[in-house]
Amino acid sequence: MRVAVVGATGLVGGVMLKVLEERNFPLQMLIPVASERSAGKTIKFKGQSVLVVTPEEALGLKPDLALFSAGGETSLKWAGRFTDAGTIVIDNSSAWRMEPGIPLIVPEVNGDKIKAGDKLIANPNCSTIQMVVALAPLHRKYGIKRIVVSTYQSVTGTGIKAVRQLEDERNGISGEKAYNYVIDKNCIPQCDVFTPNGYTKEEMKLVNETRKIFGDDSIGITATAVRVPVAGGHSEAVNVEFNSDFDIEGVRMILSQADGVVVLDDPTSNQYPMPAMSENRDEVFVGRIRRDESAGNTLNMWIVADNLRKGAATNTIQIAEYMMKQDLI
Ligand code: A2P
Repeated sequence: MRVAVVGATGLVGGVMLKVLEERNFPLQMLIPVASERSAGKTIKFKGQSVLVVTPEEALGLKPDLALFSAGGETSLKWAGRFTDAGTIVIDNSSAWRMEPGIPLIVPEVNGDKIKAGDKLIANPNCSTIQMVVALAPLHRKYGIKRIVVSTYQSVTGTGIKAVRQLEDERNGISGEKAYNYVIDKNCIPQCDVFTPNGYTKEEMKLVNETRKIFGDDSIGITATAVRVPVAGGHSEAVNVEFNSDFDIEGVRMILSQADGVVVLDDPTSNQYPMPAMSENRDEVFVGRIRRDESAGNTLNMWIVADNLRKGAATNTIQIAEYMMKQDLI
């Protein structure tokens, strides 16, 4: 299979290359794609130097599969041209996620929504992916009525510029800024830009994408997304009200058997997930599982994952693997 990685020189693109390599993804030819600025440079893949090309040049090489992570504008401009040429596109940007008819996929949750003939598949937002991986098995059993989520998001979610801003601030260097405010020793209650209702785009992605993935617009969801000076992964405090009652042991049992989930939850030995330990891991970690004693049928939990891996690169590649297994590629 000929596989193009569009955005290969970016943070998520770099992790995609690493994950393709680690999982020994069956590719015959890797086509790293970036902007004109990077075309002609090389990247390392499986110990070899591979030439970076522009999207136009990549089209000419007729890839079977293209993994896009080069921002919404690049996806809007190029995804259709690739699918018209017969390439299956899995897109990590927000450009197509809410488009009716475009599947928005987390394989262990709703992989079965991909149909034969689907050419463009959207990969959800990082914060949404980790939340639905942990909530889907509980939703199946107890039915979710309402979710209140607060996020503590890694600077890696913003891109290379944000990682540099944090490092520069820690080293006392004045450099380019990804955020309007200092991020070191701070929390910024704004991820992405504001929408007219006073919520940010990131918060509305959590609302809309979760409903689309669960196929249920009646679920109430409200979110507060916060950027924190952390680089390893995103954390989420999630309060979830179910339609039916649960017992904590049942919840633990369901989560410990769920695909892609690791339960790390032992208050007696101070065990709970943290972003520093989720870094470079593909699983979604869940801890602090406890009943909300102020409301009926309601649970509190803490969900942590590496946003560049399960939140982006790994999920994209798992979609491709799922499609190959189902003979959809
Ligand atoms: P480049 O390095 O040439 O700018 P990040 O989100 O980490 O900043 O990465 C963005 C990725 O998307 C980079 O690989 C970047 O390439 C790529 N990219 C940005 N604009 C385009 C474009 N117009 N065509 C192809 N790739 C693009």
